[in-house]
Amino acid sequence: MTKARVAVSMEGIVKRFPGVIANDRVDLELLEGEIHTLLGENGAGKSTLMNVLTGIYRADEGTLAVRGTPVQLRTPKDAIDLGIGMVHQSFKLVQTHTVTENIVLGLGRGLAPVKLSEAEEKVRELSERYGLQVDPGARIWQLSIGEQQRVEILKILFRGARILLLDEPTAVLTPQEADELFVTLKAMRAKGHAIVFISHKLDEVMAISDRITVLRGGKNVGTVRTRDTDPQDLSNLMVGREIRFERFPGEEVRGDEILEVVELSASNDRGLEALKEISFTVSAGEILGFAGVAGNGQEELAEVITGLRTPTDGSIRLKGRDMTGASPKQVIDAGVSYVPADRHGVATVGDLSLTHNSVLRRYREKKFARGPFLHLAAAVDYARRLIKEFNIMTPGEGTAVRTLSGGNLQKVILAREITTHHELLVVMSATRGLDVGATEYVRETLDEHRKKGAAIVLISEDLEELLSLSDRIAVLFHGEVMGILDAEGADIETLGLMMAGRKLAEAS
Ligand SMILES: Nc1ncnc2c1ncn2[C@@H]1O[C@H](COP(=O)(O)OP(=O)(O)OP(=O)(O)O)[C@@H](O)[C@H]1O
Ligand SMILES: [Mg+2]
Repeated sequence: MTKARVAVSMEGIVKRFPGVIANDRVDLELLEGEIHTLLGENGAGKSTLMNVLTGIYRADEGTLAVRGTPVQLRTPKDAIDLGIGMVHQSFKLVQTHTVTENIVLGLGRGLAPVKLSEAEEKVRELSERYGLQVDPGARIWQLSIGEQQRVEILKILFRGARILLLDEPTAVLTPQEADELFVTLKAMRAKGHAIVFISHKLDEVMAISDRITVLRGGKNVGTVRTRDTDPQDLSNLMVGREIRFERFPGEEVRGDEILEVVELSASNDRGLEALKEISFTVSAGEILGFAGVAGNGQEELAEVITGLRTPTDGSIRLKGRDMTGASPKQVIDAGVSYVPADRHGVATVGDLSLTHNSVLRRYREKKFARGPFLHLAAAVDYARRLIKEFNIMTPGEGTAVRTLSGGNLQKVILAREITTHHELLVVMSATRGLDVGATEYVRETLDEHRKKGAAIVLISEDLEELLSLSDRIAVLFHGEVMGILDAEGADIETLGLMMAGRKLAEAS
């Protein structure tokens, strides 16, 4: 075997922000032809380190060498010229442009203008070579999230990237799309590219990486070969304590019926039927999980229950009261809380502090009001409590939320939504983007709410999550319920068949 060449060597990298050392003397070595995972809790410094490697942030200390040559990255362009490209946690595509237009955007300035037809040919060729299927002429708004991600990857390949940094690429993908991405990553590895992969999902980290580097509190606490480690070891390294991977058993006795949905139908934004005569009930002290591949009516279901979308047929009753077609405010007043899947679009204001964001929808409550004004001291107390309970990594409650790491921002919203009082809690993708410790905490919190008698609708694509928490699991396919089964003893194969459109009776 020939020795792999070093693609990148980072030594003693330090990056400070006001009140935070995001990277604390980090060493990292990337080899050509390897998939190297960067693992660590929310706020451990993963994105920051990658932003240093792409010239977005300038390191305060430390050195960087690319293929053996010391380099200084002053701008993102310097990194691109060295063949370094990054796909960020959130995409930066122009919705009304085509795939090819997005890919060539920003190129050709100062050079001969890029010919669109030639570019399109090259995009087609790259997408075949790496298994990145997407129509070069399609407009971005027509594409699924998975396809948009392929465009981002094509964009950096088009610029000649041989060092590819992917920041939580699978967080937004369905399990099927993630599998397709892994085929692409392996094709890149086979061509000698160096790949950094960031993810919180230990099973996929174990499956795809050659080596794993763990960051904790901004420090590199170890680089290991994947074949020499396991998920338990990794979480010990990451968190410094044991993490439970267990099932939370539900209650033996359930309370009164809280939510009753009868033959509910609804349309999606394009006016097509998204839910078809769905019926189910959820009782106090019960978690009803909804499994399904994204786009099978999950979002519409959550929106109809929470009053954000009007049903076309059927009825919704909450504790016996008819709530069909009620407004979001009426639904909230009736004791319903909602944690949506897209936590950036809703519910945070980047420039405002954590304190203000944590009471964003509650400033009218007595406890947080002083006449028409915010009772700041009470809000600060509350924000501090959330920071402590959810282990939100931040210099303090006065920090603007836009500076929080991806996962910590998510914790703020989740904390706010699930600590309020409610009869019914509707949660989508509860732990997406959260590290193992935070995932454990959120699961415990949901379990506690169940024990206190809340009814919970848990919508997720993560079967492991559904199996660990739910009392019963319903499977959605093309807007229909394929069946509802007890989570205890449910097998993944049956669920998988139902997710592909088999009715429970045929699948089991
Ligand atoms: N622009 C910024 N200004 C101030 N602080 C920042 C900035 N960017 C990051 N930080 C801080 O640096 C630390 C590391 O953040 P980083 O985004 O690198 O974490 P991460 O490991 O990517 O976490 P996650 O898994 O949640 O995405 C955090 O405490 C974060 O609040
Ligand atoms: Mg990050």
